Amino acid sequence: MDNNSQVVVITGAAQGIGKGIAQRFSESGAKLALLDVRLQPFEDWVGGLKTEFLTIKCDISSKEDVLHAREQVLSRFGCIDILVNNAGIGSAPCAFEDIKEEDWRQTIDVNLTGTFFCTQVFGKSMLDRGGAIINISSQSGLIPSPNKGAYSVSKTGVIMLTQQTALSWGGRKVRANAVCPGIIETEMSTRNYTTPNAKEARMGLIPLGRIGTTEDIANVVFFLASPESEYINGEAIRIDGGFSLTTIMQLSRI
Ligand code: NAI
Repeated sequence: MDNNSQVVVITGAAQGIGKGIAQRFSESGAKLALLDVRLQPFEDWVGGLKTEFLTIKCDISSKEDVLHAREQVLSRFGCIDILVNNAGIGSAPCAFEDIKEEDWRQTIDVNLTGTFFCTQVFGKSMLDRGGAIINISSQSGLIPSPNKGAYSVSKTGVIMLTQQTALSWGGRKVRANAVCPGIIETEMSTRNYTTPNAKEARMGLIPLGRIGTTEDIANVVFFLASPESEYINGEAIRIDGGFSLTTIMQLSRI
């Protein structure tokens, strides 16, 4: 597989899964436009990238920021081949009846509306010349997550946004697919480890017996951007080590 010299836009690229995706594409020779609302975390690692890159400060929930980012990408690289909509925020854990309007709006604004803005704005530059869009949803977009109401709803929205994009733009040479990570070791997920054995307890629920890595996600994203997946369009692929299969298994413990 080779994405040699293709131009890849990755949102939320400064750390975690976005960083892993950037490193994976860089290994294949891709040129990278790395967007994030915070630029500081890039300083620790972008020096090690093997290919040309551009970092851009961009809050995806601001259409103005996204339009400005597209201008910068096009003026530096001239085109866009692949868009990875990775930026996202977790919502504050809370009982469904207590979700605050402000938290609800912020979660939907970033995770869903921001992903829509990027799809529309960057996607327009791919229409008819060809491209691939990969959206990072979540297992919480497939099954409701306890105390994460706004997050789950936003991530289900991302799956439908993916399908809508695939339907609308398949005929114009742009494919769209989503991945639905389970528990992946990043700053976002470790914030949920509120008890000393939380990590081990979670591992016990995953048939593969380990927490996922950013590489686990990056490898599938890379595949979905490559010609090897050219007939996959509108799919949402679970990457959770089998975690979501264990629900009924819990009954055996009762
Ligand atoms: P993270 O919190 O480590 O990194 C997220 C990145 O997105 C950060 O660099 C942050 O600055 C950036 N970001 C946040 N809001 C932004 C905005 N408005 N505009 C631009 N950039 C923004 O999170 P992680 O774990 O790397 O998550 C990446 C994606 O994967 C998210 O969409 C998340 O919902 C999803 N995901 C993560 C899982 C996990 O277990 N870590 C599981 C399922 C999905």
